[in-house]
Amino acid sequence: MPSADLTRSVWQVEADDFPSDGTIEDQATFLLRYAILAPSSHNSQPWSFRVTGNAISITADESRWLDAADPDKRELYISVGCAVENCCIAAEHFGFDPQVEYHDPESADLAVTLMLGERDLKDPRPAELFDALTTRVTSHEVFEDRPLAADTQERLSSVVREAGVTLHLVGDPDTRDAIGELQADADRRQMNDPEYRKELGHWIGLGALGSSWLAARIGQTVITHLDIGDREAAKNSKLIQSAPVVAVLTTAADDPPAQVRTGLAFERVGLLASTEGVAVHPMSQTLERSETRERLRRLLPDGAGRPQHLFRLGHTDEETNHTPRWPLETFLSEA
Ligand SMILES: Cc1cc2nc3c(=O)[nH]c(=O)nc-3n(C[C@H](O)[C@H](O)[C@H](O)COP(=O)(O)O)c2cc1C
Repeated sequence: MPSADLTRSVWQVEADDFPSDGTIEDQATFLLRYAILAPSSHNSQPWSFRVTGNAISITADESRWLDAADPDKRELYISVGCAVENCCIAAEHFGFDPQVEYHDPESADLAVTLMLGERDLKDPRPAELFDALTTRVTSHEVFEDRPLAADTQERLSSVVREAGVTLHLVGDPDTRDAIGELQADADRRQMNDPEYRKELGHWIGLGALGSSWLAARIGQTVITHLDIGDREAAKNSKLIQSAPVVAVLTTAADDPPAQVRTGLAFERVGLLASTEGVAVHPMSQTLERSETRERLRRLLPDGAGRPQHLFRLGHTDEETNHTPRWPLETFLSEA
């Protein structure tokens, strides 16, 4: 783990500081200041970057892999995909045409290379996503009893354009409540696993989830040593029940490139939701074990594909603070 401290100052990135007269490497490195603001599981920030000319290589950092919570590395690659998407949005804003190249799924060092081409955008991302890069947060609140407007749901669906990735918006109360029960079951299983609790406690103890130092230490002790499965189950199923819509991203393939693509799609939906005043909250426990993941698949329409990522969508007036990040230098490797 890096020696540099977690900081919230990274959120103060100013577009005016873009080095217009700098080298292409300076410009590419600037884009990465937006990449590190991406969401990630347990805020583990499991990415690594290398800039070579106009190519940005983005790799999963396995030293930050949550091997207890995420044995399949699904969340690892989704998190990397979120960082890739942030980088693409920033690249388009500053006048590039970013092309994503996926490396061979069999290769040990799965990475994405982002080529910064001349501007020739055939299907640009919505321009308003750029401002959301520095304002987006994950909400953990109980949502208001208010529906998610049909036109908002359409707009959120329309930005998913990755091949083989589908967004399902579940608004039917019976299916949503069944997902809530599944969530409760998954929470009990995870919190019953000492390795899961130890791992979560580790990231809380680092302060990655945003608590002050003392609160983080107390949080780590509680999570690591007490079985709080029933409490988590009750809290989280209530959170699901409060959501007018539970979203699930599914894919046709079930491999790292499909999971990276899921990350791109999720982050784009999440940023657009943020511009529309819609709160977003990923809830991963159901997907973290094959049995509950399979039960979730059976709640989706026939032929829906493999569930990769689940998140609540809804409304809340509660303010949420940004979580901290490690400074960009932590993630840069030499060309
Ligand atoms: C793949 C993935 C899985 C996540 N799973 C959960 C989850 O199960 N529960 C939760 O509260 N947040 C979850 N999150 C949200 C992260 O905790 C959050 O992104 C991180 O703490 C950083 O905070 P921020 O999104 O507000 O910047 C997940 C995010 C990603 C990308």
